[in-house]
Amino acid sequence: MAILETPRLILRPFDEKDVDQMSELMANPDFMRFSLGVFTREQTVAFLDKFIGWERRGLPSQFAVIHRNDNRLIGYCGFFHQEVDETDEIEIGYRLDPDYWSRGLATEAAQAVRDHGFCDLKLPRVISLIHPNNLPSRRVAEKNGMKIEKKTVFRGFPTLVFAITREQWLTTGVAG
Ligand SMILES: CC(C)(COP(=O)(O)OP(=O)(O)OC[C@H]1O[C@@H](n2cnc3c(N)ncnc32)[C@H](O)[C@@H]1OP(=O)(O)O)[C@@H](O)C(=O)NCCC(=O)NCCS
Repeated sequence: MAILETPRLILRPFDEKDVDQMSELMANPDFMRFSLGVFTREQTVAFLDKFIGWERRGLPSQFAVIHRNDNRLIGYCGFFHQEVDETDEIEIGYRLDPDYWSRGLATEAAQAVRDHGFCDLKLPRVISLIHPNNLPSRRVAEKNGMKIEKKTVFRGFPTLVFAITREQWLTTGVAG
């Protein structure tokens, strides 16, 4: 059970006790931008159960993002399991509390997750699936060393596939 630490964040596995705080975040339309919409409490419970299940089975999963200064749970960053154009992929995905945007925190979290994926989990590559109009998320992917590989349609939406391979991570100097 990995716990990742960065200067301003702790990324730890989700717990059933996170439901209240996550339900509040997932009911916020800004937190849920570029998704199908806000979640009910029941949908949030199912979402967290999925992460807890992956974690128990030893699969890459999402982390709860804790802001060290105030000890608040401010969102999630970690791995999703996706099928993109009939290929299984591991995605790095993230959402943060709007009160904490534009401080470099998503980048800090995503870089720690990327390094964990390559260093500890030995993943061959990771992607991020991003709507072309989601400029902040595109910027986070770029700062995570990813490049646009292609444009596709994912779950009915135009989607940019950002990717970085383990080889690129090792050779481009982004590896910590
Ligand atoms: C995407 C998200 C996680 C980014 O979080 P964050 O902590 O604000 O990200 P960072 O501060 O690390 O980086 C954001 C970058 O986007 C840039 N940015 C912000 N708003 C922007 C805009 N409207 N146009 C262009 N760039 C923008 C910031 O300047 C920053 O880049 P910089 O470091 O070069 O200045 C956050 O906006 C979010 O939760 N959005 C809603 C959910 C979402 O879209 N998730 C991703 C789904 S693919």
